[in-house]
Amino acid sequence: MRIAWGITGAGHYLKDSFDVFTNLKSKFSDRVKITTFVSKAAEEVTQVYGLFKLLGAISPGGYMEEIILESQQGWSYPKTGRFSQGNYNALVIAPATSNTVAKIVHGIADSLVTNAVAHGIKGGVPVYVVPVDIEGKVKSPMPYFIDREICVQCGKCVENCPNNAIEEQIDFLKCQGCGLCRDICEYNAIKGGYVELCIRDVDTENVKKMRKMDGISVLDTPDYISSTLQSIYSNSLKATSHDL
Ligand SMILES: Cc1cc2nc3c(=O)[nH]c(=O)nc-3n(C[C@H](O)[C@H](O)[C@H](O)COP(=O)(O)O)c2cc1C
Repeated sequence: MRIAWGITGAGHYLKDSFDVFTNLKSKFSDRVKITTFVSKAAEEVTQVYGLFKLLGAISPGGYMEEIILESQQGWSYPKTGRFSQGNYNALVIAPATSNTVAKIVHGIADSLVTNAVAHGIKGGVPVYVVPVDIEGKVKSPMPYFIDREICVQCGKCVENCPNNAIEEQIDFLKCQGCGLCRDICEYNAIKGGYVELCIRDVDTENVKKMRKMDGISVLDTPDYISSTLQSIYSNSLKATSHDL
């Protein structure tokens, strides 16, 4: 079974999506090949949450098991042509930012992940999207930040950060989410935690529109990814034995 996984730059559901694909690959390594398509924002956001390095175990490299970074692609995304060639059994976008959902709903295909979705639908590959902003409120995980009310500016985190990511605050573009700063801070001034966010009406409406789109199924949380892929796999086995 060949799966294409598209990651966009959302912190919400990011760890849960990684858990699903890590488990899938470790359980079925002999039967599942996963190509990961990473948006430019996802490349930054996965690093800040300390997850980027886990991709190597999910997509170890080689045919149909590569990590495809949007930052290293041209403007026409030739790699997404694979979806027209019957190479994948499914394309899963998890998590899908409100930005990517809005583009998909409006037929825009000018980024690696939205282009993959467009080609997936055109090529008859079932597309599954896990949007982060469905409705109401969400509790989203936060990257590490320094609480300046508590910080005494001892400089220990600045000196010890392996990525030189700390000055006045933690630079999200340099932070790799290792958590060393939090561990060594004697004043507990470095925090992560969760924030509560209100979903915009426009994002709720876009998800409703996406539910009605041909070729796309919306999965409400990453919990549904495994069972969805397993049923595709079982059906493909049945189809193969029937054909024989
Ligand atoms: C740390 C961090 C977390 C983010 N989390 C979210 C999120 O949960 N949902 C969202 O819609 N955008 C989130 N964003 C903003 C997106 O990354 C940004 O809108 C980006 O342009 C999306 O591009 P993409 O859809 O091509 O990945 C986050 C940004 C940062 C820096």
